[in-house]
Amino acid sequence: MKSEKSQREKTFSPGALTRLEEIKKKYPDKRAALMPALYIAQDEFGWLRPEALKAVAQYLELPEMTVRSTATFYSIYKHEQAGRNMVRLCTNVSCMVLGASTLKGTLKTLYGLAPGGTSPDGRFQLEIGECIGACDRGPAMLVNDDLHTELDTKKLIQVLESYK
Ligand code: FES
Repeated sequence: MKSEKSQREKTFSPGALTRLEEIKKKYPDKRAALMPALYIAQDEFGWLRPEALKAVAQYLELPEMTVRSTATFYSIYKHEQAGRNMVRLCTNVSCMVLGASTLKGTLKTLYGLAPGGTSPDGRFQLEIGECIGACDRGPAMLVNDDLHTELDTKKLIQVLESYK
């Protein structure tokens, strides 16, 4: 029979476990560690689906009800499936002048991506964002943490096709 620890480890990647261990050291009180642990679970699972909440409860040895009620109380957590890659298209003035609205249309037409929505294949989620500090190289967007600049339709497609 597998130990409880080995069962727990199956639910988180080694990287997430390292982050969780750091949180545990920083917040010896399990309840204080709960919110940062939920962030890590959200990163790991994509959103706080039931398995993610169960994994956090097991890891922190807290009742599942406690974990679930904390997670659902705060709107800062994702409670439904999100796209695997977060696209943040800047639509501030400089980027708009340089063609961001065309890109927004392309995202809708080719990828089925509307602001706030997820592409039908689950690859992308779109947020229309504020300035991301690349105004002189617009239109600009972030995909996850990667900055992409001087976009046109062709480059937009090339960039997005590099994310699975
Ligand atoms: S206005 Fe788009 S990056 Fe600044």
